[in-house]
Amino acid sequence: MSENIALNVPVHVGIIMDGNGRWAKKRLMPRKMGHREGAKTFRTITRACKNMGIKYVTYYAFSTENWARPQDEVDAIMDLFEKYLDDVKSFADENIRIRFIGDRSKLTPSLQQKMADVEKFCEKFDSLDCFLAINYGGRDEIKHSVQEIAKKVQRGEISPEDIDEKLITENLYTAEAPPVDLIIRPSGELRLSNFLIWQAAYAEYYFTDILWPDFKPEDLEKAVKSFSDRNRRFGGV
Ligand code: IPE
Ligand code: IPE
Ligand code: MG
Repeated sequence: MSENIALNVPVHVGIIMDGNGRWAKKRLMPRKMGHREGAKTFRTITRACKNMGIKYVTYYAFSTENWARPQDEVDAIMDLFEKYLDDVKSFADENIRIRFIGDRSKLTPSLQQKMADVEKFCEKFDSLDCFLAINYGGRDEIKHSVQEIAKKVQRGEISPEDIDEKLITENLYTAEAPPVDLIIRPSGELRLSNFLIWQAAYAEYYFTDILWPDFKPEDLEKAVKSFSDRNRRFGGV
């Protein structure tokens, strides 16, 4: 990858893991098989992010809207998270720190416990910061931030005039990550679907028709190359 030396690698990449269902359908398999395959891609791509020198990666795994799916599919996805979290310690040699964003209160107590265990286990790892968005919605996250700020006002710790963009950002689930530089969405859909809507205000976007289970490190490299070739102006000239 010597040609990558001159690449401008994004610090924070957001990935919408979409297309699992269609991947399975094409193979006449149940949708949950697509999710299982997608979980394997998650591992491969996370390693590839680390190898490319990306510092933060946030994956959209389950949205606040995904509860609208048939119960058996929701159950299959939740089972997969549980199994995956049981297995995550085998990832330890990678030195990757995994954390979760989203509203955990709707998840089962056992899943919540495993999430907390994984976060504790990975706490000191520092080669890559990986956030998994589970029961995450950008609007829900902003609502939550506003509620936290309102509590501070109510306690008299701050006044309404103290509320600025920085404070809103600091009360988001992603408070410890920088703004997202590049959002990748496979599967051919051209939308955010409520992912990182605040953080992505100045992100670059990369869309591809490849379905998530088929997404390869070469596809990540293509997305990074595309990012690297762009001119970000942030409103300037
Ligand atoms: C993304 O794949 C995974 C989740 C939303 C949990 P989909 O399940 O949305 O796959 P498609 O879009 O139906 O192909
Ligand atoms: C977005 O994918 C959510 C995740 C990948 C977790 P969806 O498949 O749910 O998005 P829509 O419904 O096509 O917008
Ligand atoms: Mg989808």
